[in-house]
Amino acid sequence: MEIIVCKDYEEMSRKAAELSAEGLRQHPDGLLSFAGGDTPLGTVHAFADMVNKGEVDISRAHYVSLDEWVGLSNTDEGSCGLFNEREFFARLEKSFASRHIINGAAVDIEAERDALNAYFAAHGPLTVSVLGIGMNGHLGFNEDGVSFDLDAHIIPLSDTTKRVMSKYFGEKFHPTHGISQGIRQIMAAERVILIANGAHKADIIRQAITGPVTNAVPASVLQNHPNCYVVLDEAAAAKL
Ligand code: PGA
Repeated sequence: MEIIVCKDYEEMSRKAAELSAEGLRQHPDGLLSFAGGDTPLGTVHAFADMVNKGEVDISRAHYVSLDEWVGLSNTDEGSCGLFNEREFFARLEKSFASRHIINGAAVDIEAERDALNAYFAAHGPLTVSVLGIGMNGHLGFNEDGVSFDLDAHIIPLSDTTKRVMSKYFGEKFHPTHGISQGIRQIMAAERVILIANGAHKADIIRQAITGPVTNAVPASVLQNHPNCYVVLDEAAAAKL
């Protein structure tokens, strides 16, 4: 793991976007994935700016979303799909060769999982995977206790995730399950970029990076990834 400590959120975001672009330039026909949510917002904006300025070419590249709340589609407030649409695709002046956004509101959610695996079979493995970390150490919706051997799957959400992530919905929606890329797909990525900011992430970052590799803290599996960057602001790095 290469740990990069940045002075603040803006610098973390810029660094993660640059590392993403560098990874994609090595394989311009590769597959890119960004987590959704507060942490990657600045990274996604910075990457879109780089694309629009011609600093990285996505015209031959493919894009896949990381995860979704079961029950939400990409037009629903709080969904990862809407984050992708609003914060990323709407800003891009260029298009990917193809993209696959998970539909958590699919009537047949198992078919939706199978479609995600089929997209990986067609365009994978990931070239660049940009991940956040949950307060329970989750990556995507690979919750604590998850098997490291899974591809895309549907998984019950932990109580921590339900509590912490209610910031995205308030009382409007009470998710019980997530659909997510699996750890096996994440670990097969050529380059993984884990980002975290804020003092509230300092403990879980310390556990994930300096603790044992265990599915009790899913992000700890990244210690075994051969090309993983951990990009932190000073607050999230404070307990390393
Ligand atoms: P956050 O979520 O960006 O809302 O902190 C991180 C995550 O759960 O991956």
